Amino acid sequence: MDRGLRVAVVGATGAVGQEFLHLFEGREFPVESLALLASARSAGRTLLFRGQEHLVEEATAEALNGTDIAFFSAGSGTSKALAPQAAAQGTVVIDNSSAFRMDPSVPLVVPEVNFAAVSSATKIVANPNCTAIILLMALAPLRSLGAISRVIVSTYQSASGAGALAMEELKEQTRAVLEGRSFEPKVMPHPYAFNLFSHNTAVNEEGWNEEEWKVRQEARKILDMPDLPMNVTCVRVPVLRAHAESVTVEFDGPAPSEDQVREVWSRSPGVRIVDDRAANHFPMPLEASGQGDVLAGRIRRDQSHPSALSFFVAGDQLLKGAALNAVQIAERMIAAGHLG
Ligand code: A2P
Repeated sequence: MDRGLRVAVVGATGAVGQEFLHLFEGREFPVESLALLASARSAGRTLLFRGQEHLVEEATAEALNGTDIAFFSAGSGTSKALAPQAAAQGTVVIDNSSAFRMDPSVPLVVPEVNFAAVSSATKIVANPNCTAIILLMALAPLRSLGAISRVIVSTYQSASGAGALAMEELKEQTRAVLEGRSFEPKVMPHPYAFNLFSHNTAVNEEGWNEEEWKVRQEARKILDMPDLPMNVTCVRVPVLRAHAESVTVEFDGPAPSEDQVREVWSRSPGVRIVDDRAANHFPMPLEASGQGDVLAGRIRRDQSHPSALSFFVAGDQLLKGAALNAVQIAERMIAAGHLG
């Protein structure tokens, strides 16, 4: 590529939007020009990028015109309204919302797992649900050890997944509780500080909430295993920005050994093993926060089933769970000659 890219961030003022800017700086992403877009509420604000103030504009199709690539993280309504038009104008869209994830014509990509789903004709790439990405980083490499026949996941999800306002609310509410003040939650449906609750998305008639549904459907699509039996339970915990997940995997034959899993993970880019039994030190959200790698460990036989093993993962929801995965997709597209 002989020039930089004209880049747009839609949702630039949000929690994920901010991470895009940090990643562009830290990874020397080839930004020639940058359009920072958000709702009309934020138009006229400025954000700092490479030491310079940049004006935030309202996200419109006109504002996206002439950009090479746009990173969307402003909710699925905004993506549905603007991404197809941007793509038709020639912009490659990496969309962090759920708007197009299950569209069969849109690749849903974790680059370490299925970058091959992207081609030179791709105009919209869907960035998967954060919980699905973090799960798949550890789960997908295990397919080299045998056919996976069933997956059970329980999650411990942070405030960041619900956006910058939810993170603020958790801090404010924690302060209020410690100071003995009452606090009326506005972003979350339940008291969040010193509490946990079933994921705050709509529950369907089968009793699954939307997040659980997304994790299952998206994992199946990315793994190209449309019928993989999966059971998922998603819970919000009062953690600021990294998700953790307890995972049990069943194989067709006997489960691989713990050492085999360690060996496979040690060769898997983006996975860092944290598995110190003597020190009782395993993946933790605080240690995953700010890290690009997903932390994986607590590998152990499932004592209730000879074909199953369990492990625990933690990953930064805003980084590998969102902005980093999207930037890595773009970097791979640049390297493959699909951009610029
Ligand atoms: P704004 O700050 O102007 O509301 P988070 O996930 O942290 O809550 O961030 C959501 C991001 O999506 C913010 O940048 C927010 O902008 C942006 N956003 C929300 N609604 C719209 C909209 N209708 N059009 C464009 N951007 C939007």
